[in-house]
Amino acid sequence: MADALERAAPTPDVPDDAFIRVRGLRKTYQMGETLVHALAGVDLDIPRSSFTVVMGPSGSGKSTLLHLIGGLDRPTAGQIELGGQRVDTLNENELAVFRRAVIGFVFQTFNLIPSMTALENVAFPMRFAGIPRRKRRERALELLERVGLANRAFHRPSELSGGQQQRVAIARALVNDPQVILADEPTGNLDTASSNEIIEMLLDLHRAGRTVLIVTHDLRMRGLSTNTVYLLDGKLVDEDSYMELSTLTMGRGTVTS
Ligand SMILES: Nc1ncnc2c1ncn2[C@@H]1O[C@H](COP(=O)(O)OP(=O)(O)O)[C@@H](O)[C@H]1O
Ligand SMILES: [Mg+2]
Repeated sequence: MADALERAAPTPDVPDDAFIRVRGLRKTYQMGETLVHALAGVDLDIPRSSFTVVMGPSGSGKSTLLHLIGGLDRPTAGQIELGGQRVDTLNENELAVFRRAVIGFVFQTFNLIPSMTALENVAFPMRFAGIPRRKRRERALELLERVGLANRAFHRPSELSGGQQQRVAIARALVNDPQVILADEPTGNLDTASSNEIIEMLLDLHRAGRTVLIVTHDLRMRGLSTNTVYLLDGKLVDEDSYMELSTLTMGRGTVTS
């Protein structure tokens, strides 16, 4: 485990233009008789400390890309390197250690545990890091303060607004001080004011030196990013093709879904 942690740690000599390096990444799902190519050969370099936005219509492979980079799922083919460390070759135990040490996930649906208070939700991931209970609570409270929710520490998710729940989720994502934040449509379920708060928090994390990778189909997010990549049908495309083709793809999606 310690070995995996060490291997997951970034090396200082990685060039800044490729903190996360993705090569020939494929993910294929079998749906009955048909193969779904969720990712059909993706090459991508994500700079360290960047605020990288991944855009694409529903079904284009955005979540799949994030899950593979974050080690939540395994590629069918291709390589993923993070800080010089291969992610795609780690075994299950090593992946768990890697995720805990290096990655903070933020999801569209917040994914908080309903029966737990905000404090318990934030403290939860620390259970597996061997940190004593009192320390866990202290750290969780400190993080809730940072996201402006110290006064909601003992509320359950159902007693919080969507924006507040997402702030709790961000606090939880930060407990192990991850270098990489992966956010999958983090504002997809939020009103404009709450969305802006969450975006501002993610931008702060980027400014503090973390590498933030955010998936969205909100075109407004492009203006805030250090770099934007466009996914269509499991492939990266340039901006012009995206603008042209996504209208068609989205149109099709609307009709069929
Ligand atoms: N577990 C799965 N089993 C089968 N097909 C899947 C699975 N996950 C995703 N897919 C398919 O892969 C494609 C990409 O999905 P996804 O990465 O979730 O796209 P996005 O996040 O851009 O909406 C879609 O066609 C989706 O239906
Ligand atoms: Mg998705």
